Amino acid sequence: MQIGQKMLHLASVDSTNNYAANLLKQGDLEHGTVILADEQYAGRGQRGAEWLVKPGENLTFSFFLSDVNLSVNRQFVLTQLVSLGMVDFLRKFGIEASIKWPNDIYVGDSKICGMLIENQLSGSSIKSSIIGIGLNVNQEAFSGFSATSLKLVTGKQHIIQELIFSLIFTLNEMFKENLNRTARIDERYHENLYRRDEMSDYEDASGKFQGVIKGVSPEGRLIVLRDHKEYLYELKEIRFV
Ligand code: BTN
Repeated sequence: MQIGQKMLHLASVDSTNNYAANLLKQGDLEHGTVILADEQYAGRGQRGAEWLVKPGENLTFSFFLSDVNLSVNRQFVLTQLVSLGMVDFLRKFGIEASIKWPNDIYVGDSKICGMLIENQLSGSSIKSSIIGIGLNVNQEAFSGFSATSLKLVTGKQHIIQELIFSLIFTLNEMFKENLNRTARIDERYHENLYRRDEMSDYEDASGKFQGVIKGVSPEGRLIVLRDHKEYLYELKEIRFV
């Protein structure tokens, strides 16, 4: 499941995930294609949010996996793999990142990377997947929420063109051996899980509460211990306060 044999580098696009989806619709998207954009004017985040970053300062790209062949109830493995790929990539810069469930990459309490995974299903299996990644690279100021970038963490300016090749290499290392080693992937995902085993503040439909993340279920639901009972949450059901 290697990627990067083909790369499209666009100056400006609405969203690299949309661009990939359109190519797929036209029957013109090969497995492993990477679509990199200097600027996205309608970048999309999770939960229907926007992904707005400064043009030319960050890594925004998508890649296409055509041969996923995972049953839908194992789709979280893909999230885990790509998240761990990002953690491994950041470690090459000496950065100890963690994974904020389900797939935000954090340094300390600030977000450095987000991803948008859009699967194409066939019956009860995932046929293919468009995986979009936004990594904050040289941007120094962020408004609205707590975010950071490679430059803020390492103190150095980075060359985006170089990063993409090195990141593709890291992701390929991850994809090479791992899709079937789900126990090891799951173990590593948990080792790197943000706020695991720490008492912290959360909010769900019943209001704010204190709880402890114990892990993530095989289907990808967050397990939170609250008042000696475990609760399972889907993505939109809980907010980290
Ligand atoms: C999130 O954290 O909310 C997900 C952010 C995903 C952003 C990336 S940037 C490249 C790709 N194209 C998009 O429109 N979104 C993803």
